[in-house]
Amino acid sequence: MAMASHSAQALSLACEGVLRRGQSRPSLPGVSTAAEYQSAVRVAITAAAVALSTSKRLLVLAGAGLSADAGVPTFRGEGGLWRTHDVERLATPGGFAADPEVVWDWYRERRLHVASCSPHPGQRAIALLSAHLPAPAQVLVATTNEDDLLERAGVNQVVHLHGSLFDTMCAANCGWRAKDDQDNLLSLRPCPACGARVRPGSVWFGEALPSGPLEAVARFEPDACLLVGSSLLVQPVSGIPNDLAAAGRPVVELNPEETGFSQVAAASLRGAAKDLLPPLVDLLTSRTMQDQRRRVT
Ligand SMILES: NC(=O)c1ccc[n+]([C@@H]2O[C@H](COP(=O)([O-])OP(=O)(O)OC[C@H]3O[C@@H](n4cnc5c(N)ncnc54)[C@H](O)[C@@H]3O)[C@@H](O)[C@H]2O)c1
Ligand SMILES: [Zn+2]
Repeated sequence: MAMASHSAQALSLACEGVLRRGQSRPSLPGVSTAAEYQSAVRVAITAAAVALSTSKRLLVLAGAGLSADAGVPTFRGEGGLWRTHDVERLATPGGFAADPEVVWDWYRERRLHVASCSPHPGQRAIALLSAHLPAPAQVLVATTNEDDLLERAGVNQVVHLHGSLFDTMCAANCGWRAKDDQDNLLSLRPCPACGARVRPGSVWFGEALPSGPLEAVARFEPDACLLVGSSLLVQPVSGIPNDLAAAGRPVVELNPEETGFSQVAAASLRGAAKDLLPPLVDLLTSRTMQDQRRRVT
């Protein structure tokens, strides 16, 4: 299908007011009552599910917004980490070289904070989707998030495109890397393989992404994408949904804010991940969708 036809189907629904905070609903053209509003939300979610319903290799691509509902701050936007913290000092190779202890203190703090958060219903819905999207459809879950909330929600395999918060690795690039989720023990010692300093296993600004995770996404050859909570401002990951949309593949976006991608999305759902993912996954795994899939494939 051509990109233009996806644009024509693009749905935009500003429903975060009701769905996120249970307060007054935002105004939608032709919608005046709460019941009409809920029905408009259902229509938008259904359109998003239909756009993804014939996918055989569905990529779920999640950004920091997916973890926001669990209490993990995003980088940009309201309450974002970069509004209060200095990127250059905390998340660049230069910042680490200048003061490794300041960087480690911040990372240990983030590890502790993430460990105190629990997966929310939207993350659990992604786990259900990856386990229950009816065969022969397959799901690959990839994220720029460094936290482990998707794993804790029950997703078996998560492709971490920007590294992992709980990994510690050799700062001299000897190749040593290990899970460091036992009281940050490994972060306090030199590299056991070569004796150099160790650093957090996150990808920092100015660094290339590890090729393995990007290759895993390319090998999967997604034919559709569910894009959750990403501002798509970070390359090269932002190229993934853009390339899929340019190739005429349906990409559904879920974000409380309009993004630069909203206009090319097959459907753009406005709202919080914890509210919109459960009903969307319910539909995608429903008998109605299975029947539709059978008819089309
Ligand atoms: N949880 C984490 O591990 C974490 C947290 C902060 C930043 N990061 C890093 O941030 C960088 C990338 O940028 P990004 O685009 O992922 O994040 P970003 O901070 O640039 O954008 C977050 C996006 O999430 C949306 N959002 C906010 N609340 C949401 C909600 N409740 N539901 C759905 N969407 C919501 C925002 O509108 C925004 O578009 C990555 O490098 C990643 O490593 C990771
Ligand atoms: Zn080493």
